[in-house]
Amino acid sequence: MSWIKPMNPPITDWQGRSVWLIGASSGIGLATAKALHAAGARVVVSARNAGLLQQFVDDHPGAQAVVLDVADTAAIATAARYVQTQQGLDVVMYCAGYYQAMRAADYSLSEMLRHLDINYTGALRVLDAVLPELLPQQRGHISFISSVAGFRGLPQSLAYGPTKAALINLAEALYYDVSPHGIGVSLINPGFVETPLVANNDFPMPALITPNKAASEILNGWRQGQFHIHFPKRFTRMLLLMRLLPYRWYFALVRRGTGM
Ligand SMILES: NC(=O)c1ccc[n+]([C@@H]2O[C@H](COP(=O)([O-])OP(=O)(O)OC[C@H]3O[C@@H](n4cnc5c(N)ncnc54)[C@H](OP(=O)(O)O)[C@@H]3O)[C@@H](O)[C@H]2O)c1
Repeated sequence: MSWIKPMNPPITDWQGRSVWLIGASSGIGLATAKALHAAGARVVVSARNAGLLQQFVDDHPGAQAVVLDVADTAAIATAARYVQTQQGLDVVMYCAGYYQAMRAADYSLSEMLRHLDINYTGALRVLDAVLPELLPQQRGHISFISSVAGFRGLPQSLAYGPTKAALINLAEALYYDVSPHGIGVSLINPGFVETPLVANNDFPMPALITPNKAASEILNGWRQGQFHIHFPKRFTRMLLLMRLLPYRWYFALVRRGTGM
């Protein structure tokens, strides 16, 4: 709807823009890195798997890789400085993620903390490294991949869901502070995407899409200056509506839908 003012400065031209994607050795991050490179962006990819990152660099001239673990605060700070000095920072995208189904009967504190560290605290470490660079330059964009699993509690999502809810709230709170400085924030909430993260799911995933489709939805959202980029709409709109239900109805509906 063109008469509605975009919430972020729309990104319509990627030529020469510097994008740092953290968690881009596979899945949605990798597909987005490929799409951005094809659109002319200068892409830096980060994750732990050096071999996969190198393969991306070999296949995409001009791209760079910085191997890191998002649990390592110093490595993230060093990587951010490297990207900034090499090519500046226009867009930072946090795509790193970890998911293991968990229910109360197999509760594991170490697994809970691992989810928190990769899915949420890692994003805090990235913010710590990039905010001092982005705020003074008064332009740029910070994007977080969260999940529809962060909208409301879901079965099997005891470890994963709360970390994604935290990331949603973080993006919302950040928007107040950085958008007046010309810095965009986008919150990406995918439904099911066919990636290694969900390869072990033992149930049919509704409205499953490919990573390439996810990447094209993300670039489209950035082009339109959206804060909330969610897809596929046939699935995410239903979950957004379910956010409004009273708990009694919400729990009953999810129980009926999932059989759990
Ligand atoms: N697939 C879905 O259905 C779906 C739905 C909603 C949201 N999401 C979210 O989308 C994002 C991308 O996930 P995906 O589906 O594309 O899965 P994926 O292919 O497994 O990608 C996850 C990425 O995170 C990186 N990563 C994991 N642990 C890391 C660590 N400690 N340090 C650095 N990087 C780390 C992985 O790289 P290395 O292993 O090389 O480190 C990989 O590049 C995640 O935030 C996920 O929660 C996915």
